[in-house]
Amino acid sequence: MIRPATPDDAAAIVAVERAAFGPDVAWSAGLVDLELIAPGRVVVAAEQDDAMVGFASAAVIADVADLTRIAVRPHARRTGVARALLNALLEQAAERGAERMMLEVADTNEPALGFYAASGFSEVARRHDYYGRGVDAVVMELAPIPGHDTLVS
Ligand SMILES: CC(C)(COP(=O)(O)OP(=O)(O)OC[C@H]1O[C@@H](n2cnc3c(N)ncnc32)[C@H](O)[C@@H]1OP(=O)(O)O)[C@@H](O)C(=O)NCCC(=O)NCCS
Repeated sequence: MIRPATPDDAAAIVAVERAAFGPDVAWSAGLVDLELIAPGRVVVAAEQDDAMVGFASAAVIADVADLTRIAVRPHARRTGVARALLNALLEQAAERGAERMMLEVADTNEPALGFYAASGFSEVARRHDYYGRGVDAVVMELAPIPGHDTLVS
């Protein structure tokens, strides 16, 4: 089940972050709290058997939604959870006026690159050494945001 996240979800989101990224890269509790209350943010959560297995967030500013995070617990991957999260995020972002979604991803993150390509994102730029020496950021865009009837399911 996909649903909007609320400030009460902060601890569960931190746990998903740690499971998905490890303790060094995971967002801190403070960052998650900010993400849940910052203006223009859209945050959605995926639940299975009353437990959160993934979440996704975006910052909507004018016509652009920036995908700030998408993460799924390892045991729940490759079952369509991220696809469902992204569809919910796109729908909510479009309702707030977004016409395209943008993101940055490390060029070493093959699962994420595969997921974004499968979701219709295209590379529009590269930021060299953005994530440290030898690790570029790939800037990707999905434009226009697909209509409700045409979202990949
Ligand atoms: C990237 C991530 C969110 C994908 O989540 P997921 O729930 O496994 O993705 P889905 O099951 O919805 O996959 C949808 C499609 O994306 C593509 N895809 C997903 N994972 C992939 C992988 N590891 N390699 C290649 N393609 C992949 C496939 O086309 C897949 O469809 P299929 O399973 O029918 O082949 C997940 O691997 C993850 O949490 N990674 C760690 C966190 C991260 O790096 N987030 C992105 C940066 S913020």
